[in-house]
Parts: sequence; structure tokens; C-alpha cells
Amino acid sequence: MGNIVIELKSLSRSYGYGEGATYALKDFDLEVRRGEFIMIMGPSGCGKTTLLNIIGLLDRPNFGSYMLDGEPVARLSSRKKAHLRSTKIGLIFQDFNLIPSLNVLDNVALPLTYAGNSKSKSKRYIAADDILRRFHLEKREYFLPFQLSGGQKQRVAIARSLVSKPEIILADEPTGNLDSRSAHVVMEELKSIHEEGNTIIMVTHNPSLTTYATRVIHMLDGQIDKDVKTVADQDLPQPVSIHFGRANLDQADHTEPPEDITPDISIPIEEEVKVNGKRKKNSSRKLKKLQKKSSKKKEVL
Ligand SMILES: Nc1ncnc2c1ncn2[C@@H]1O[C@H](COP(=O)(O)OP(=O)(O)OP(=O)(O)O)[C@@H](O)[C@H]1O
Ligand SMILES: [Mg+2]
Repeated sequence: MGNIVIELKSLSRSYGYGEGATYALKDFDLEVRRGEFIMIMGPSGCGKTTLLNIIGLLDRPNFGSYMLDGEPVARLSSRKKAHLRSTKIGLIFQDFNLIPSLNVLDNVALPLTYAGNSKSKSKRYIAADDILRRFHLEKREYFLPFQLSGGQKQRVAIARSLVSKPEIILADEPTGNLDSRSAHVVMEELKSIHEEGNTIIMVTHNPSLTTYATRVIHMLDGQIDKDVKTVADQDLPQPVSIHFGRANLDQADHTEPPEDITPDISIPIEEEVKVNGKRKKNSSRKLKKLQKKSSKKKEVL
């Protein structure tokens, strides 16, 4: 797996047939590197939302290819796509789609209950509470959506998109309906998520926000009109968390970790392990034993 996370080649998306066909995207090429913060600008109707919908696996192109992490998206099953949408990709759109009968906390915890997420119920609520605090919404956790202002609803929707810590965030005018203070909170949050090495593609009509971007793309009539990088590829932020699991070996940069870094075994409290093919929870006693062992080892060294 290289550093290119999204690769679009000769992508077209049209509506209608023959003479009446209109192109939302036409022969569109784009390479997105891990850690880029791209702002997309352009006049109404130039294809910005269409582009995000395709990248976010909500829509399909008529022609062309889309590779996500080196894998052709056209070959993915709809189940795999749904899984990627709930884990790898965070979508922030203007129509909030909060579930009216669920309170704020439940709305935000919802993506963590989808298949493939093994978090316990209490951990899901802790994660939801954590992200709501980052958006200064902790006092509204037990409110229903109709009891919130438009700006608060939007911030809840943004918190919900980010609760599963997606690597790729697609945002369609996330600050469009917000007052300047709320917009600032959202932009600072996106900035810190970007600094952690995640990739963000955001549509905006507000040129003053482009200071947050590492690259600004201007679109016109379904194509790229101008593409300006303000940060060199080698200076893009790298993922900050250090993983030791097999699943992340592909993403590692193959440099040796410094010798004094020991995997922190105090973090997984309820890690699931397989014993004789059966799933078992790692007891905290077992973890404490491991911790003792590791600290003794350090003393000896
Ligand atoms: N479902 C649809 N059926 C027909 N035409 C569509 C459909 N969705 C989008 N289009 C057309 O595709 C073009 C691009 O639409 P898109 O929503 O991507 O624009 P946009 O750049 O996001 O505009 P805005 O800034 O107003 O949000 C428009 O001309 C639009 O009319
Ligand atoms: Mg749009």
C-alpha cells in the first residue's frame, strides 16, 4: 500500500441520456495522499457534492476507475462498502439526518453499534461522550434533536461522523450553517484530526477557510480548473499513533521503532482473544500479570 489513499482516473458521472445528458463530473482525475487536507471550491452545480458522494461510496461513476487504498472500489461487495462507510470513511453532510427519537448521546453512539465494531456498550457511550465534549455539547447529551438549535444539530452530526475515528473525512460545507464561533470550533477540531495524520476532503464556499488546507482545488463544469498544493507531500502529517498489530504493518514506514518503546499493554482492558478457536475476554487479572512481568523485565534491563 502506498501513500496514495484515493485514486480517481477518467471518472465521469452523468445524468440523463443522449442529447439530454448533463455531466456532473467529466474525465475527472485525482490522486489524494494520506494526510492531505483538501479544500474543494467552485460555483454551484460544478460537481463538488457529486465528487464527495462517489468518494464516500454513496454513488457510482458511469465511467472511469476509483481505487481506495489500492483496491478497485467497483469490485467491492455492497456489504464491504457499508463496512468501509461505517469505519474508514466519515461523512459530514449538510442535512444532518439525526434520528428524532434518539437523544444526542444515542445518536452519536449509533455508528459504533454497527456490525464489525466490538466495543462494549459502556465504551461506546464513553467514546460518544468524549467526542461530544470536544464539540462543547456535553450539556445537551440527553436532549432530543428537536430541542437543539440548527448549529447544535450540525455539531452533533459532525460528532457522530467522527466518533468511529475514520481515517478519511469527507465534509460538504460543514460550517455552512454555523455562526462564526461554532464554525471555529468545528474547523479547529478538523485541524487537530488532520494533524493526527488523517485525510480530509472538504467542500467550502468560504475562501478564508483555505488557510487550514494543504491543497486547494477549484472545480469548474465537472473538472479541475486549478489545483494548488500549499504543503509539500513529504511534509504532510504522519499518523501519530504507534500500532504493533499485524493489520497495520502495511501502513508502517518500515523504519525500526526506537528501542525504548514498549507496547503499552495497560490500554486494552477487555481485549478479545481466541483460545482453541473460541472467543474469550482477556481478564484484567491476566493483564495485570502481564504488566507486572513487563515492568520486572524493564527493571532487569
Ligand atoms: N440526481 C440528479 N439528477 C440530475 N442531475 C443531478 C442530480 N444530482 C446532481 N445533478 C446535477 O449535477 C450537477 C452537479 O451537482 P452537485 O450537487 O455535485 O453540485 P455542487 O457543486 O455540489 O453544487 P452546490 O455548490 O450548489 O452544492 C448539477 O448540474 C446538478 O444539477
Ligand atoms: Mg453541493
